[in-house]
Amino acid sequence: MLMDRHGRTVSYLRLSVTDRCNLRCLYCRPAESVSYIPHEQILTYEEMTEIVAVAQSLGVHKVRLTGGEPFARRDFIPFVAQLHERFPGLDLRITTNATLLGGRMPELKAAGIRTLNISLDTLDATTFAAITGVDVHAKVLAAVDEALAAGIRVKINAVALRGFNDTELPAFMDFARRYGIDVRFIEFMPIGYACRWSEANFWPAEEIVAALQRLGPLLPETNADPHSGPARMYRIAGSDGRVGVISAVSHHFCASCNRLRVTCDGRLRTCLFSDKDYDVLGVLRRPDYQREMLKELVAQANEEKPLGFELLAARRRKAVCQRVMSAIGG
Ligand code: 5AD
Ligand code: SF4
Repeated sequence: MLMDRHGRTVSYLRLSVTDRCNLRCLYCRPAESVSYIPHEQILTYEEMTEIVAVAQSLGVHKVRLTGGEPFARRDFIPFVAQLHERFPGLDLRITTNATLLGGRMPELKAAGIRTLNISLDTLDATTFAAITGVDVHAKVLAAVDEALAAGIRVKINAVALRGFNDTELPAFMDFARRYGIDVRFIEFMPIGYACRWSEANFWPAEEIVAALQRLGPLLPETNADPHSGPARMYRIAGSDGRVGVISAVSHHFCASCNRLRVTCDGRLRTCLFSDKDYDVLGVLRRPDYQREMLKELVAQANEEKPLGFELLAARRRKAVCQRVMSAIGG
C-alpha cells in the first residue's frame, strides 16, 4: 500500500489514453484548433497495461480510462477487453463524451464494460453546440438510450456552468428520474491553460443543491463506501434516479484524495492542481527497464503528493495548471 506524507493511501488510478477529442468543450480545450501530442510520445497499450500492473501491485483497485475522448483512439475497445481479461479483479471504468459510440454497445458489453460515465452538460441541442463547439447532441442522447438498452449502467457528468446550463435543473432532474440514473453536477474548475474559466460562469455546488431541493423531495445518500468518491448524492423520492454535486472548488476533498493520474504521454501527476509530474514514459522506455524502477518512481511521487487546495487557494482566479485538461483526463 502506498501512503503519502499526509497519511493518504492510493487506490484509484485515472489513465488518459489519448489527448485527441472530437469536441472542444469550453472548460477543457481551446476553441481554435490544437496540435496533438505526436504518436511516438503517446503511451502504447502495452505500456499502459504495464502501468496498470504496477499500480495494482501497489494497492490500486480502481482504474478509470479517460481522454481526450478515449473512443477516439484506435482499437480502444479491444484494449479494454484485454485489460478485463488480464486484471479480472480490477474495477475498470471509462469516461466518455459518448459521441462515437453509435451501434457499438454490444461490442462494449462483450468487452466487459458494465458502466459508462457520460459527459453531458446540457439537455438542449443549441446549448450543447455552444459549450462543445460541435452539433452532436443527438448522438449523446442516442448513446444513453442504447447503453441502457444493452444493460450498461450510465452515469451523467455535467459541468455546472452559470450562463449555460443553470436553467436546466428541472430538466436534468426529470432525466435522472425517467431513466433511473445518476446525474452529477461538477463545479467548474479553473484548470488547464485552455480552460475558459471565469468567476461569472462559476456556479457553486451549495446553490445547486439548494435549487435541487426546491424542485422536489430529495433524500441524502449516506456514503457507506469510503471509496465512493467526492460526489454528494441525493435520491429523488419515488424513483431510482439520483442527482448530486461534486464540489471540487468550494469544498476540496484533498484530505481523502486516493487518486493518481497518468497523462496519455506518460506523465504521472499526483494532484490535479499541481504541475509537478514524473516521467513514467521515460522509465518504461529505458533499455534496462524493470518493474521495480516504475514502482519506485510511483512510490516516490506519491510520497511527495501535495494538498492541492493550498495550490488552488494561492492561485485562484488564474488557471492553476499549465497543461490542457484533455491530456490529463479530468
Ligand atoms: N472543470 C470541471 N470539470 C471538468 N472536466 C474537464 N474539464 C473540467 C473543468 N475545467 C470534466 C468534465 C468532463 C470530464 C472528462 O472532466 O466532466 O466530462
Ligand atoms: Fe473532449 Fe471531454 Fe475535453 Fe469535452 S471535456 S473537449 S469531450 S476531452
